[in-house]
Amino acid sequence: MPPGGDVRPADPLGRYADADRPARTDRPWVVANFVTALDGSVAVAGKVGELSTPVDQDLFGLLRSLADAVLVGAGTVRAEGYGPVRLGADQRAGRTARGRTPVPPIAVVSRSLDLDLDRPLFTRADPRTIVVAPAAADRKRRTAVAEVADVVHAGDAYVDLPDALAQLRRRGVEILLTEGGPLLLAELLAADLVDELCLTLVPRLGGDPVHLLPGPLPGGLRSMALDHVIEADGQLLLRYLVEAGRT
Ligand SMILES: NC(=O)c1ccc[n+]([C@@H]2O[C@H](COP(=O)([O-])OP(=O)(O)OC[C@H]3O[C@@H](n4cnc5c(N)ncnc54)[C@H](OP(=O)(O)O)[C@@H]3O)[C@@H](O)[C@H]2O)c1
Repeated sequence: MPPGGDVRPADPLGRYADADRPARTDRPWVVANFVTALDGSVAVAGKVGELSTPVDQDLFGLLRSLADAVLVGAGTVRAEGYGPVRLGADQRAGRTARGRTPVPPIAVVSRSLDLDLDRPLFTRADPRTIVVAPAAADRKRRTAVAEVADVVHAGDAYVDLPDALAQLRRRGVEILLTEGGPLLLAELLAADLVDELCLTLVPRLGGDPVHLLPGPLPGGLRSMALDHVIEADGQLLLRYLVEAGRT
């Protein structure tokens, strides 16, 4: 049984809000949040929708409410039609009381800058959406993106994620939530930039053959330590810590 491992607490999600996330100075504390089917599939017909459940949606919103920014790969932005973060009145008020913006900005990682700039993610976001792009990104597109978003430059051919995260930290981001997708998660793990993995396992099988990670990680398997498991309506809400898994 994990620490505090009773699987049906009165407030199932309270543990996520109460968890210790030590502030770092070099980069934000990075939380990765994913939902998967039992076979590890992360999408059905190209989208998360059919996998997500009310409990997972609550967790998704709660983790967003705790974050100073939400980092996401452009593939997921395109597949899911990402918009600005929306939170309930209580969560917005709680953030404001903690000196945060009412909602965290989305930060999109992209090299192609193939982003639909007419969508609310760019026309309605407050705070403005951040686009993290490498020097090699198309100059014309970069200029267009800079009209509607804050652009963070990191890396040459591709985004250098350690540099990008250091820059986000300097902008005041202490807790960075990443919502994927698999390609971005793999890169973050490979660069040793993930502190916490919040995985919701839903009792479904047979989604797309797109899994949590696109393939083996450079450097071999990573170990993580289970911090808690919560059972809710047949789903398992798992919180793993990376540092504790190293020992
Ligand atoms: N179940 C879940 O919790 C969950 C969560 C997220 C996503 N998903 C699913 O995952 C699928 C999308 O996954 P994905 O792996 O294709 O997408 P992804 O990781 O969201 O995005 C990949 C894209 O991000 C950009 N990117 C990533 N690393 C970069 C770097 N170092 N430098 C520059 N650009 C970088 C590139 O964008 P450009 O092509 O623009 O250069 C790349 O093509 C969708 O079906 C989505 O529904 C599921």
